Amino acid sequence: MQTTMELEKIYQPISEDLASMEEVLHKRLTSSKYESVKAISSYPLQSGGKRLRPALVLLSARVIGDSSRQKQKAINIAAAMELIHMASLIHDDVIDHSKLRHAKPTVNSKRGEDVAIALGDYLHATASELIATCSNPEVLECISLAVKTMCEGELLQVCERDNLNLKLERYMVIIKKKTATLFATACQSGGLIFGAKENLQKTLKDYGFNFGLAFQMVDDCLDFVGKKKSLGKSPGTDFKLGELTIPILSLISEDKEAQKVQSLMESPDKDNSFDELRDIFINSEAFTKTKKEIFFYLNKAKESISDLSDSCFKESLTDLTDYVAKRIEI
Ligand code: FPP
Ligand code: MG
Repeated sequence: MQTTMELEKIYQPISEDLASMEEVLHKRLTSSKYESVKAISSYPLQSGGKRLRPALVLLSARVIGDSSRQKQKAINIAAAMELIHMASLIHDDVIDHSKLRHAKPTVNSKRGEDVAIALGDYLHATASELIATCSNPEVLECISLAVKTMCEGELLQVCERDNLNLKLERYMVIIKKKTATLFATACQSGGLIFGAKENLQKTLKDYGFNFGLAFQMVDDCLDFVGKKKSLGKSPGTDFKLGELTIPILSLISEDKEAQKVQSLMESPDKDNSFDELRDIFINSEAFTKTKKEIFFYLNKAKESISDLSDSCFKESLTDLTDYVAKRIEI
């Protein structure tokens, strides 16, 4: 697992359980008796990742209580969340024809779209197997609904590409569905396994949902203002695909910039179109407003859990919101 030192510190209270989660992932992704399948199913393990969703499952469980009887179930659900996330990225890279992810060739560019589609399905099916080990219909129901919602969000995004009339409200619907819902579900299912009552489930779900919204908005800004080395992929992908994310939408909503932005968007493949747009965004009022919006959702996430009793797990949930805020400080 590759995490920054900062994340390692935040994950410290659940480090043992995260290590067990990593073992579950490793075991499940190397279990095929066929060497060719094993070689590709273990490929996603090589690129690491921040493991945010598993960490949220485990922190949300522990913030509710300490149940050693349910511990393995929480670990399995944490692994299932990461597998669903990995599967969704592998399919997303096929959809976007992306070549790099986490600084490594994507499965589609390394082995072809056919292998990438089959691998995404394999990871998703492995997640279902792990969810089944919990024998908890409520957990099954909320995760199934989350996956369906993600698919709907991705479909909506693809169907709305190049739609210059796309408004910020529609963008928010897309990111709620494709990203925030899985974060909300990670938190809710962690709580559910450790016996959280309805009001506490809602508290955790609200935290995950607002955290997820801010996380995706940061991701979309970083696609504009981030550097290839830290992103592990080339910036400007959304723009080149005609995907209208928060940087463009907020620039268009600024009267001053709208015309210039629209003309640059007409030639996304021209060498300097993206660079020009990035410079406009970095120096714009739109960027300042977008950062405020991001901080608004991160604060909402923090406030959602403010009534929970103080613990190192609650502190980690709070620190995670600060970690996301820091990603956008440039
Ligand atoms: C990455 O976002 C992609 C998602 C958040 C969700 C993708 C969802 C699906 C493909 C449907 C669900 C599929 C399965 C198998 C569960 P992004 O494109 O904004 O991020 P990126 O810039 O890193 O690609
Ligand atoms: Mg993508």
